[in-house]
Amino acid sequence: MTLPQAAETSASSAALSCSGLTRTFATPTGGLDILRGVNLSTYSAQVVAILGPSGSGKSTLLHLLGGLDRPSAGEIYWGGRRIDALPQRVLARERATRLGLVFQQHYLLEDLSVLENVTLPGRIRGRPDAARGEELLARVGLSKRATFLPKRLSGGERQRVAVARSLYSRPQVVLADEPTGSLDRSSAVGVYALLAQLAREEGSAVVMVTHDEGLVGDVDARYALSGGVLVPA
Ligand SMILES: Nc1ncnc2c1ncn2[C@@H]1O[C@H](COP(=O)(O)OP(=O)(O)OP(=O)(O)O)[C@@H](O)[C@H]1O
Ligand SMILES: [Mg+2]
Repeated sequence: MTLPQAAETSASSAALSCSGLTRTFATPTGGLDILRGVNLSTYSAQVVAILGPSGSGKSTLLHLLGGLDRPSAGEIYWGGRRIDALPQRVLARERATRLGLVFQQHYLLEDLSVLENVTLPGRIRGRPDAARGEELLARVGLSKRATFLPKRLSGGERQRVAVARSLYSRPQVVLADEPTGSLDRSSAVGVYALLAQLAREEGSAVVMVTHDEGLVGDVDARYALSGGVLVPA
C-alpha cells in the first residue's frame, strides 16, 4: 500500500498532474497512438512550457488535461481530485472553478464588451465581479478598451483579453494552447510573457504549449513532446 499512497500524496500537492496518459484515435487503417504515456506535475505559480512540432499532440494533451477529451488510459488530477472519469456536468463545474483556458483561436463572444468577456466566468455563475474584471484589464493594459466590442480590437489585444479572462476566477491552473497563431512575433512573445507574469503573481500554475521555442521565455520547466511522451528540453 505504500506506493499508491505516495502517488496520491504527490498528486494532491500538485495543482495539476497526470500519469501514464495515452490517447489513441481510431482510424480506418487502425489506431493512431498520439500520446503514449505522458507524466506531468505542475505546482502553484510554476510555468511549464511544452514544445513540439505541428501534429506532435500538444492540443490533444491540453484537451485531455482540461477535461475536454477523455484519455484512452491514464489518470488526471486537478488539485488532488481525479477528474478523468467524472461525469460531464461535474467536470464542467470543476473546470469553471479550477481552470483557465486560452485556446489556439481566442474565443471571445462578439456581442459582449471586452469587460463582459473578461467577467464571463462570473456571469455564468450569476455574479460577475466588474471590479475584478477592471483590475485584470488594467494589468493587461486594456483599461481604455473595457467598453469596446471584440471586433474593434487588434489580434494581440484580443489575446490579452483572453489571458485576462483565463485568470478571472483565480484558477489553480491555466492551460494555454499557442495563443499566438495570428500574431506577429513580438506580440506573440508578449502574450506568453504576460500570461506567465500574471499567473505567477496570482499563484496559478501554467501549462503553455507551442511549436515555436522562441516564443517561450522565462519558464520554470521545459519539455518536448516527442514520440508521444514528454522529455526534458
Ligand atoms: N479526433 C481525432 N481523430 C483522429 N486523429 C486526430 C484527432 N485529433 C487529433 N488527431 C491527430 O493527432 C495528431 C496530433 O494533433 P494535435 O492537434 O494534438 O497536434 P498539435 O501538436 O497541437 O499540432 P499544431 O502545432 O499544428 O497545433 C495529428 O496528427 C492529428 O491528425
Ligand atoms: Mg495544436
